[in-house]
Amino acid sequence: MTASEHPIVVTGSASGLGAAVVDRLRAAGRTVIGIDLHDADIRADLSEPEGRQGAIDAVAERTDGVIGGLVANAGVAGLTETPGSLLASVNHFGTVAILEGLRPMLVAGGETAAVVVSSNSTTIQPDLPLEAVDVLLAGDEDEARRIADEIGPLAMYPISKLAVTRWVRRQAVTEDWAGAGVALNAVAPGPVETALLAATRKDPTVGSLVDSLPTPVGRIGRPDEVAALIEFLLGPDARFICGSVLFIDGGLDALLRADAQPAPWRT
Ligand code: NAI
Repeated sequence: MTASEHPIVVTGSASGLGAAVVDRLRAAGRTVIGIDLHDADIRADLSEPEGRQGAIDAVAERTDGVIGGLVANAGVAGLTETPGSLLASVNHFGTVAILEGLRPMLVAGGETAAVVVSSNSTTIQPDLPLEAVDVLLAGDEDEARRIADEIGPLAMYPISKLAVTRWVRRQAVTEDWAGAGVALNAVAPGPVETALLAATRKDPTVGSLVDSLPTPVGRIGRPDEVAALIEFLLGPDARFICGSVLFIDGGLDALLRADAQPAPWRT
């Protein structure tokens, strides 16, 4: 079998972007294994170590330890009532655990790819407490959860996405990933019409911001637009893309911080 014949694993497959990726891949003839809290091939809670390991074991069992791709997409929104610790555990630690746990199965699949769903909140939410990013990346989940609850959900959402994105860029170039034939990249969507965005609209603190963002293309994104980019990143034409963060945000990042990227190297 070639990589294109092995199953692709998608976390957060039951809704929104994950469901759109599943639909798109299945329409292209791919076998997909969805992981989610509900309505999935593998039901697992990725906020907890047992749930993460259970999901990894279940994938190994269903695939004989060989997969053709991974979309680490499951995530929770930073709503006023959401504990910051949940954001740290699902968006960062759950994502990293799935990437690390399924990496040997990606390597076994030959030339494969993994895509992490980040967020453009990493660049458009001002003045984040960046020390918290380092705490997440240090890997002590209990300590990170404690600090995340102090910081609260509104800043923890972009912090959790910034941490997991930095993890992607640091890991993508290593022998474990690029060196082992696995292309690892992230996509950073702006607002996309999903259940998560609908819940954000109803939030008492941030809800009013959703439809007032000055998105240059003049609309909210569609799940299938992000799914199309992810499908491309999983495929054979994207093999030279490694450790990239691809924004798909209707132009918001360019509007708000035109000159911030590319950031030239200053010695
Ligand atoms: P959604 O709420 O429609 O779907 C998220 C899925 O993740 C749900 O099916 C949910 O059950 C699953 N999930 C949540 N916690 C989980 C857990 N502990 N264990 C297993 N599965 C869990 O949200 P959407 O919009 O499709 O979000 C997908 C990803 O895209 C998330 O990582 C989100 O942060 C990111 N994103 C979404 C944007 C948007 O505007 N919709 C913008 C930027 C990023």
